[in-house]
Amino acid sequence: MYGLTRLSRPLAFITRNLTTAPPHRNLTVLAVESSADDTCAAIVTSERQILSNVVLRQDSYHEAYGGIHPYVAIEAHQRNMPGAVRRALEEASMSINDVDGIAYTRGPGIGGCLSVGSNAAKTLAAALNKPLVGVHHMQAHALTPFLTTPVDSLPTYPFLTLLVSGGHTLLLLASSPRTFRTLATTLDESIGRAFDKVSRMLSLPWSQHGPGAALEQFCMSGPTSDPVEAESEERGARSQAELEAPHIPLPMRGRLAFSYTGLHSTVERFMHARGGIIDEHTRYAIATRFQMAAVGQLEEKLALGLRVCRRKGIDIRHLVVSGGVASNMFLRQRLRACLDGASPDVPISLIFPPPSLCTDNAVMIAWASMQRFLAGDTDDYTIELRSKWSVEDLDNSAPKLELDDFGDSKGKGVGTDEGTFGRLDIGSLFHNAASRYEGGNLGNPEDLVAPHFVGQQPALQTVVSA
Ligand code: KG4
Ligand code: ZN
Repeated sequence: MYGLTRLSRPLAFITRNLTTAPPHRNLTVLAVESSADDTCAAIVTSERQILSNVVLRQDSYHEAYGGIHPYVAIEAHQRNMPGAVRRALEEASMSINDVDGIAYTRGPGIGGCLSVGSNAAKTLAAALNKPLVGVHHMQAHALTPFLTTPVDSLPTYPFLTLLVSGGHTLLLLASSPRTFRTLATTLDESIGRAFDKVSRMLSLPWSQHGPGAALEQFCMSGPTSDPVEAESEERGARSQAELEAPHIPLPMRGRLAFSYTGLHSTVERFMHARGGIIDEHTRYAIATRFQMAAVGQLEEKLALGLRVCRRKGIDIRHLVVSGGVASNMFLRQRLRACLDGASPDVPISLIFPPPSLCTDNAVMIAWASMQRFLAGDTDDYTIELRSKWSVEDLDNSAPKLELDDFGDSKGKGVGTDEGTFGRLDIGSLFHNAASRYEGGNLGNPEDLVAPHFVGQQPALQTVVSA
């Protein structure tokens, strides 16, 4: 652990404030993120201000490979990281000496990509004598709404969080900022990868926001139709395409587990049988069916997860949805309807970060590090990367959830497995975050969500596409 002695600026605040007003902390963190294909740097304050948010996208480098090519990504991070940091400082009108701490994504992610951000962060911290915090990428996605949601509608623990990205499909129970337990995860592939693969099979041009966003865009805009084509012919082509397009399955029905491989392999088989040649209407029918099935699976697992929580007496009032796929508008609408159907009597708030902070960014990394900086719970410069890292490991003291109890792939399904739920002591899951940080002299980290924060920040962002 790395002591508070390095937090020169906040200590100065404290010393000053001890003799005058009640302590008021304002910490400024520079964070870098490079776990996959975007090179990100951002500066955020403990008062919920986003001072800069730089995202250098690499989509055009990877389009030819049909997915993230690790070596290409590593090289691009190496090229772009110094410029991203420089730009984040310039846009915040700050010098690096004004920053109180350096945060970075410690994992999970592509090892070589993570190492670029990690080395940059550690070197800066060591050279400048600043404290360092390595952040869990999925925790950061889950905590983003504490930065972006108005203070009167922040999620309250325990809440459910659905994290849908290129690397993960997770339904988690969050009972403190660092206590997450898995209700459902994917048995094979993530929802984001399935979006990417189907988008590629349909030869959709990657939009500025990548293949998943391109598929969503195509579903919204519809097939490009020939203006001279008669209206009746159009309709005929559409219904013929609907008849022809494959049925996309809803796997693992009734089980708390995701599976996405079957969705894109159904599309792949269909395309293969037609030698890769399909008309525009069929392409559209496949895209919309896939999107419906991909999101439908989330809806089904969410309804199951809520049923499980209800049976256990866990009162869920908020659902946080984040990760790249959470920027999908169709998903947002469907999940709202799903919550209304699954919990008609008890309203459940649905909280999304703004789309630009659902996809990877360093703002969320800075924000997730804030509590640890405030508590003086910082990392040694020698800390290693965790390219594979379960979000549950952030808090090993809380009891695990027995997945079988919740009807996972090996279990019997939530509808039939009631008797075993009693094994979990949910009460002991609900840790008071403050008690975990009691070594910290900078005050109670729970103040991070106290009402002295400013209102919702505009998602200030500088995106540069390669
Ligand atoms: O969280 P993220 O930016 O990076 C990872 O941590 O993986 O998520 C990236 C994933 C990609 O698979 C991307 O295609 C997908 O999120 N994605 C979308 C949309 N925007 C990004 N998928 C569906 N609809 C979107 N609008
Ligand atoms: Zn992510």
